[in-house]
Amino acid sequence: MKFRLTVTSQHPGNAVALLSSKFQVDENKDPGKPNLTKAELLSALKGKDAAICILQDLMSDEVMAACPELKLIANVAVGYDNIDVEAATRRGILVTNTPGVLDETTADLAFALLMSCSRRIVEADRYIRDGNWKGFDPDLMSGFDVHGKTLGIVGYGRIGKAMGRRGQGFGMKVLYTRRSSEHTKATAAVGEAQPVSLDELLAKSDFVSLHCPLNKETRHLISAQKLALMKPDAILINTARGAVIDQKALVSALTSGALRGAGLDVFEAEPDVPPELCHMDNVVLTPHIGSASIETRTAMFDLAAQAALSAFSVQLPHNSVNPGVWPRFAQAFKEAKSSR
Ligand code: DGY
Repeated sequence: MKFRLTVTSQHPGNAVALLSSKFQVDENKDPGKPNLTKAELLSALKGKDAAICILQDLMSDEVMAACPELKLIANVAVGYDNIDVEAATRRGILVTNTPGVLDETTADLAFALLMSCSRRIVEADRYIRDGNWKGFDPDLMSGFDVHGKTLGIVGYGRIGKAMGRRGQGFGMKVLYTRRSSEHTKATAAVGEAQPVSLDELLAKSDFVSLHCPLNKETRHLISAQKLALMKPDAILINTARGAVIDQKALVSALTSGALRGAGLDVFEAEPDVPPELCHMDNVVLTPHIGSASIETRTAMFDLAAQAALSAFSVQLPHNSVNPGVWPRFAQAFKEAKSSR
């Protein structure tokens, strides 16, 4: 008998066909309902050996406790803050993510938000569609130059670096901060991205773009106090996770004019977006589409499927988040196999 696997959402590409060679696959095929409720998630996971899930699936200790057969969670995302990895590890469940395939695509969206905010593209488009354009006006929709400005990148991993390359391509000076650079002296050569402390980055940047994972250290990293360090004409871009910013504090900063604008792809309690943000012309909003190109979303699902195929062929997937669990996974796999 085949192992049982659930895919909680629809994805582009042909990976389901590949998965079917090894697994009995259950797939949520309802395009109108990409996100499962907790009860639906529990029912989808019931009796399954593996799950391919998305960031809206909250894989809590409680959910895992209700699914004792579960041996693998393959998240179709590079971030895995939706999974209690500590609980998974304790339960011997292997967790994988999708690093390396979405960096350029996510940086493209972050830069598109930066450009849209600085040059007021969405606002200008709305202006024409609403029938307001009367003719060329030297004073109409003037924005804010990008070239020659300073771009501060919070989280200088693969996506942060891809954003930095875009900034440099547009003639920007690039500063960055990451945990290990908090106390690093600025040693970069002329023209290179320069490591600085978070406070210095916030105080000096015209654009701040967030690219760090969400975890205990980064939740509300951009607090009211940190927002107050930013220049009043700065623009904040977030394609990481909503909760990296204290959203209430951000709304206040934007309302009071303490910040020029924001480009936001992620929110604290998706899909809820604070109504105040929806009424601000200086804010550009997108519905968590950082990695949403057909090519990249296909590559992400393929990578998650490959992780499942490889784990159930007793090969540790290279994209394991908790590889230390592997001997227990391999043992549980062996026992399950011999009992079928
Ligand atoms: C990720 O990969 O973490 C994105 O947020 C979802 O594509």
